[in-house]
Amino acid sequence: MRKIVAILIVLLLAASFFAGCKRDAGTLIGIAMPETHVLRWVKDGNSLRDEAVTRGYRAEVQWADADQRIQNQQVSSFLTQGAKALIIGNINDGVGSAVAEASREGAIVIAYDRIIQGTHDYGYYITFNNYKVGQLQGQSIVDGLNLDAGTAASPRHIALFAGSPTDANANFFFQGAMDVLLPHIERGVLTVAGPFPRHYSEPAFQQIATEGWRADIAKARMEGLLIGDARAVVLDAVLAPNDTLGRAIIEALRADARYHARLPVVTGQDAEFDSIMSIKNGEQYSTVFKDTALLAAAAIILADQLLSGTAVDVPGTILAEGELSEIGFTGTGYVNTLLLDPILITRDNLNVPVDAGFFSEDEAAQIMR
Ligand code: GAL
Repeated sequence: MRKIVAILIVLLLAASFFAGCKRDAGTLIGIAMPETHVLRWVKDGNSLRDEAVTRGYRAEVQWADADQRIQNQQVSSFLTQGAKALIIGNINDGVGSAVAEASREGAIVIAYDRIIQGTHDYGYYITFNNYKVGQLQGQSIVDGLNLDAGTAASPRHIALFAGSPTDANANFFFQGAMDVLLPHIERGVLTVAGPFPRHYSEPAFQQIATEGWRADIAKARMEGLLIGDARAVVLDAVLAPNDTLGRAIIEALRADARYHARLPVVTGQDAEFDSIMSIKNGEQYSTVFKDTALLAAAAIILADQLLSGTAVDVPGTILAEGELSEIGFTGTGYVNTLLLDPILITRDNLNVPVDAGFFSEDEAAQIMR
């Protein structure tokens, strides 16, 4: 009898072991990215898929062309295919219905780089310290204009742009920058041309926000400022929330004779190749490097830990606590939020994203030539 029990235990252990392996090899992770018009999301989707496959999962990526309805259909399709985890970079809070469907199916949902607003019916949000992204953008303007040595007798002039009003990240990018710039504005060494919100909750924020992160909207608004609120000054800086918008703003400035010889300090984010080359050529002033390969690897490690029920401990991340905990507020409650560290890039350290392997060999050669 004892022999039969021992054999049964061995068979049960073997079955659970092989079931586990089969589950990993067959476990599907659905990856839903917002769009491809901002190039970084193409890299994110591919990095997430590659990392998941390396860790023994099945993975499928879809990009939603900045249409939340499309993304929700893509999430439903992942769930129909039996996805056990979803990694979602959403477009707007319309994603909530897809999150509710995933919850009903018992699938893990990780909000990727953009918080899912309007619900906290999911486990984790993983992103960069977006408030620090803004602080770095603000600091690059302070450094670029040497505002610490500025005087109210000869104030410098700035125009403000923000990201999409549907993207909570845009709030934190703006607030981080404004919290760095406000003391200089209050000292009178920096003046704002155009709408001037001090906080993203003010109505004026909606006037500087850029729907869908669309470059054409930012370019048109910059053209309007040049013949409107900024017609009587020569701008010394423009707060641009990411590279796509920064380059569009520079395009509009270049068409104005006042900026042919000298461009304002224009910020950015995402270390896109075209912007790195623009910085190298003395046009864009700075960008913020968010190593999305690290973000993707961290997200897959997080998914793997949640799927296997092990304690969450993701290298290279900090838990958003204290004054950073607001980054994890969804509007209805708080979700566990893991943050990676962003890095300011100027002409002085273009090698940082290159050394991180963020570019192709050809791109790296062009940057370092
Ligand atoms: C934000 C993201 C930024 C920026 C923007 C445009 O949510 O954190 O990296 O690229 O979207 O897609």
